Amino acid sequence: MPAEIITVASLKGGVGKTTTTYALAAAAAATGKRVIAIDLDPTGGLSNALEKAKRSVTIADVLRGRVTLHDALVEHPLGIRTVAGHRSLNQEPLHEGQLRSIIQPVLNEADIILLDTHPHEPSLIGPLSVGDRIVVPTALDLLSMRAAALTVGLAQQLGSLERIRGIVVTNAKRPLSKVTESLYNGLSMTGLRFGTTLWFSSGWIVATSGKGELPEEMLQQAAQELLQEVLTRPAPVDALRSFISMAQGRRGGPPPQQPTSTPVPQSQ
Ligand SMILES: Nc1ncnc2c1ncn2[C@@H]1O[C@H](COP(=O)(O)OP(=O)(O)OP(=O)(O)O)[C@@H](O)[C@H]1O
Ligand SMILES: [Mg+2]
Repeated sequence: MPAEIITVASLKGGVGKTTTTYALAAAAAATGKRVIAIDLDPTGGLSNALEKAKRSVTIADVLRGRVTLHDALVEHPLGIRTVAGHRSLNQEPLHEGQLRSIIQPVLNEADIILLDTHPHEPSLIGPLSVGDRIVVPTALDLLSMRAAALTVGLAQQLGSLERIRGIVVTNAKRPLSKVTESLYNGLSMTGLRFGTTLWFSSGWIVATSGKGELPEEMLQQAAQELLQEVLTRPAPVDALRSFISMAQGRRGGPPPQQPTSTPVPQSQ
């Protein structure tokens, strides 16, 4: 079986993409799955988290054809094979064909391939197109939620709507304030939220700071639960469509009628 490609994406920075990617990669590796994690973010968040990523060879070398992805991958102690990001990715769009051609040769060497992404529309085109499963993380604030909806809209434009498995809330502090609670409940009501929430925990900060381990059992369990959901949940397509409409200022309901070129006959 070729690997499942899981893309973690949002058009907003700082919403927990890297934390989510790391959680899913570590959870998959812990259950014996062969995991490849690719850092497509020029700021290198995942590379920092997986500190052992060899910086002399980066994803930029792979994309420029200087080295194959297979040869660029280095083994992380958690059992994740990974390649570091590179700042030059900041300036260039990432196309579907480019990504497919570098990933294709390693598809049979892994069970799960994770893509951590750059919150920038041209950079998301490839990752949103090649992901078999797309996970959209959000923090509990309006800007992050709106960015999540815009990300869903971008996936729809790219024909990838039915690959989005849900929205994962990250970095939420308990107890929730009134405002965050209403955002959390609102998102739950849409049916888009994964059952698992990556609640705020200093353990995640330790885990993604390059130490190479998931320190708390509770975090490992949350990561496992999220991975299960990502791998088994069907795409909530209707809810995703309503979510896009809400972000565009419409309150759910049927989509507006498209204007037709044939004039509607006037009653006499
Ligand atoms: N569940 C969590 N518990 C504690 N801290 C968290 C959690 N989720 C995210 N964070 C923190 O929030 C910040 C942003 O998270 P992260 O780096 O995962 O976001 P990102 O979307 O990858 O950001 P960027 O766009 O900068 O790459 C980090 O400092 C991270 O440690
Ligand atoms: Mg990141």
